[in-house]
Amino acid sequence: MAGATILVTGGAGYIGSHTVRALQAQGYQPIVLDNLSNGQRAIAAEVLQVPLIVGDTRDRLLLDRLFAEHPIQAVIHFAASIEVGESVRDPGNFYANNVSGSLTLLQAMVAAGCQQLVFSSTCATYGLPQVIPIPEDHPQAPINPYGRSKWMVEQFLQDFQAAYGLRSVIFRYFNAAGADPKGDLGEAHDPETHLIPLVLQAAAGQRPSIQVYGTDYPTSDGTCIRDYIHVCDLADAHVRGLTYLADGGATTAFNLGNGNGFSVKEVIATAERVTQRSIPVQLSDRRPGDAIALVGSSDKARQILGWEPQFPSLETMIQHAWQWQQRCDRPS
Ligand SMILES: NC(=O)c1ccc[n+]([C@@H]2O[C@H](COP(=O)([O-])OP(=O)(O)OC[C@H]3O[C@@H](n4cnc5c(N)ncnc54)[C@H](O)[C@@H]3O)[C@@H](O)[C@H]2O)c1
Repeated sequence: MAGATILVTGGAGYIGSHTVRALQAQGYQPIVLDNLSNGQRAIAAEVLQVPLIVGDTRDRLLLDRLFAEHPIQAVIHFAASIEVGESVRDPGNFYANNVSGSLTLLQAMVAAGCQQLVFSSTCATYGLPQVIPIPEDHPQAPINPYGRSKWMVEQFLQDFQAAYGLRSVIFRYFNAAGADPKGDLGEAHDPETHLIPLVLQAAAGQRPSIQVYGTDYPTSDGTCIRDYIHVCDLADAHVRGLTYLADGGATTAFNLGNGNGFSVKEVIATAERVTQRSIPVQLSDRRPGDAIALVGSSDKARQILGWEPQFPSLETMIQHAWQWQQRCDRPS
C-alpha cells in the first residue's frame, strides 16, 4: 500500500498533521482536505509540504472532484468539531459538521468506489465507564452531543460495510497529548480546552492559573484520572490501520490509549518538573458529567495491529508539548 494516495480530512489539525508526517515517512502520498476552521495552513503547506485542498467535508461536489482527480485508495477522516462545551451549547452546528460531514464523505466514497476508511472516534462514546480499563465492547452511552455525534457515525460505518462493502477502522482515542519530538508540529487549538496545553500556558504565564475541577474524587489524590496517549503513537496507529484494511480487515473498533491513568495533580506536578516553573492552581468544585477515571485497554490494537506506544511516559509527552509551546512563543 506504500505509495498509495490517502485523503486526510482535517490533516491541517493537531492529530491529522502528525499522521500526515507518519504517512510521508512510510512512502504514502497524503493529500489534505481541511476547511481551516481549526487547522493551520502553514503547517500543511510549509512544514509538511503536503497538497492542501481548502474545503469542507459537507461539500459533495468538491469531494466528487477530489475522488475523480486523485487515485485515492483510502481516507483517514479527522475533520470534526471537537469541543465538548460547544457541542452542548450548539448541538445543531455540531451535528451538521460531525454527522452530516461524515455522511457526505461516506456517500462520496461509495460513489467513487473508495472502500477503506480510518475514522477518528473517541472514548467519549462510552459515557461514564462501568469498568476500568475500558474494553472496546463496553456499552456505548455517550453523555454529550460530541460523544453522540461520533457514536452515530460509528453506527453508519457498520451499515456501510453491510450494504456497500466499505470497510472501516474506528479508533477511539483517549486524550491525545505531546508533539512531534522535532518540535515543528504540535497542538494549537483555539479555544484550548485540553489539560496539558492549558497547564503549560499557565507555566508560561499566559494564563494566571490552572483550574482543577474537583478534589474529592475517590482517587489517590482526589482529582480525576485520565489516559494520555502521545500524538505520534496515534499517528503510527493510523498507518497500521491502513495496512489492516489493505489486507482485507473487516470494520472494527480499537481503543488507543496508554493503559495508564494520570491524575490532574500528577499532570501538574510533572509539568512543574519538566518546565522548572511553579504552576498556580485554582481549586474548584466538580464539573457535572466528569467521570472519576477514564482509562482504556488497548490490548486489541496491540494484538491485531502490532501497535506499541513508543512514548508512554507522561514526562516525555509534556516535554515534547513544552518544546512545541516554547517554539510557538518565540518571536519569528
Ligand atoms: N485531541 C484529542 O484528544 C481527541 C480525542 C478523541 C478524539 N479526537 C478526534 O480526533 C480528530 C482530530 O482531533 P484534533 O485534536 O486533531 O482536532 P483539530 O481541531 O486540531 O483538527 C480537526 C481539523 O479538522 C478541520 N475541520 C473541522 N471541520 C471540518 C470540515 N467540515 N471540513 C474540513 N475540515 C474540517 C479543522 O480545521 C482542523 O484542522 C477529531 O475528529 C476529534 O474528534 C481527538
